[in-house]
Amino acid sequence: MAKSRSKTSSHTTTPIIAIVNNKGGVGKTTTVAHIAYALQRRGKSVLAVDMDSQANLLMHFFPKKIVREEREGQTASAPNPLHHKSGVDVLALSFWQPSTSADFIRVIQHYAEEYDIILLDCPPSLEERTIAALDASESVLIPTEAEHFSVEGIKTLLAVLETRTVKILGILVTKFNKKTVAHTHLLNHLHNTYGDYMMQPVIAKSDTFVSASTQSMTAFEWNGTRKNAALEGYEEVAESILEYHIAQGK
Ligand SMILES: Nc1ncnc2c1ncn2[C@@H]1O[C@H](COP(=O)(O)OP(=O)(O)OP(=O)(O)O)[C@@H](O)[C@H]1O
Ligand SMILES: [Mg+2]
Repeated sequence: MAKSRSKTSSHTTTPIIAIVNNKGGVGKTTTVAHIAYALQRRGKSVLAVDMDSQANLLMHFFPKKIVREEREGQTASAPNPLHHKSGVDVLALSFWQPSTSADFIRVIQHYAEEYDIILLDCPPSLEERTIAALDASESVLIPTEAEHFSVEGIKTLLAVLETRTVKILGILVTKFNKKTVAHTHLLNHLHNTYGDYMMQPVIAKSDTFVSASTQSMTAFEWNGTRKNAALEGYEEVAESILEYHIAQGK
């Protein structure tokens, strides 16, 4: 399953997608890990970048020893990507403290030469690191829960995003339980309010994500061939990202 780290396509414009929501715990890191895996399984070389100083993406893919080495091994120059056995490469910028946020942008854009797609896992706030991620990206994907405060928070986030040049790829509902009446109600509300911004698949609530992350693997690897609605949702999102970029000629 491991893929080469080199770019598989001859196109020069690599999509850089920031996964953003200033609300915490809505599934940003889980979304990055699983879309990254689904895209690399479709033959793309994918770099998943951890922009968050919590380093949850790094922790999702690698055991504590590697996380400690990354934390202690920081130098003035940016770290190198780590190769995960799933085939996804992870660049942990979590502990790196460059002198200016333009350095984040420079490093991210440098890797556009080497990968087909770059996904940025952002911190749960509109801090400097998130703004750098937005400025390095051409598009953003917004995961949200179908919860009242999450839905309200999107208004503020969209207002910030609309002041920048970044394109909004879509709003993705995560941890969705179709048996929860409030979820169905809020999903309708999201569609009525944000219309075209809404991505069609929702990501079902599933315990598989917690189990997989404790084993330093994606839920795709953890689940094997067992059917899982949440993973099917992530497959669909990966597919729509590819279709979107093919339509853009990238
Ligand atoms: N579809 C899902 N079903 C059930 N649990 C999920 C799902 N998606 C994510 N989780 C769990 O929810 C928790 C938060 O997810 P995650 O870390 O991806 O959110 P986040 O937005 O990156 O958080 P933070 O804002 O702290 O960076 C994790 O324990 C994760 O395993
Ligand atoms: Mg996170």
